[in-house]
Amino acid sequence: MAPIIFIETERLLLRQWKATDFSTYISMNQDKEVMQYFPSVFSEEKTRQHIDIIQKNIKQDGYGLFALERKDTHSFIGFTGFAHPKFEADFTPCIEIGWRLSRNQWGMGFATEAAKACLAYGFRTLQFSAIHSFTSVLNTRSEQIMKKIGMQKTGEFDHPLLEQGHYLQKHVLYSIHSNNFLCTQN
Ligand SMILES: CC(C)(COP(=O)(O)OP(=O)(O)OC[C@H]1O[C@@H](n2cnc3c(N)ncnc32)[C@H](O)[C@@H]1OP(=O)(O)O)[C@@H](O)C(=O)NCCC(=O)NCCS
Repeated sequence: MAPIIFIETERLLLRQWKATDFSTYISMNQDKEVMQYFPSVFSEEKTRQHIDIIQKNIKQDGYGLFALERKDTHSFIGFTGFAHPKFEADFTPCIEIGWRLSRNQWGMGFATEAAKACLAYGFRTLQFSAIHSFTSVLNTRSEQIMKKIGMQKTGEFDHPLLEQGHYLQKHVLYSIHSNNFLCTQN
């Protein structure tokens, strides 16, 4: 059965995950460059558990970390979409937007294209009131996407799931609110 497509952009489909995506996602999560700003790469088992959670969340909520498929090659290239952060902070519970692409797909604007479409879907269709994003202060590539899609820096925080003094602990927090997004679109 064909997977549900939630969003279509000029070059991408944002859809439920399918079994043929798994091997690429396992490789991505073992790539040290892709995982540079995570505490470690993911084992195959951890990636399979991650996919299982993502698929269940999409099925249950109607949104989540959507699989990205290129329309020209029909290949799976990573994910962009929504998650619910599991840690306590002054901005949680909240809706987070995030992205992770295969290394050979960087530098072509796919993450930005997918993230812009997700914001529109989140505010117009899912009626979110606010969307947040965060990453290590070192991950300027990811922060660049936050800026390019119109999010504003709202602060910095120490990630509570990383030990005190961990080199990735300090994070930037970006946010965008529904009324701000919708008035820039009209
Ligand atoms: C973060 C990540 C998704 C960014 O990917 P990316 O390909 O660099 O991001 P973009 O989609 O914005 O593409 C960037 C470049 O593509 C180029 N580009 C080429 N064609 C383009 C097009 N048609 N439209 C837009 N940009 C285009 C631009 O030069 C752009 O660079 P710029 O930022 O100088 O404008 C990627 O580095 C990644 O997967 N990192 C690992 C996972 C990660 O850290 N995730 C975040 C954790 S919180």
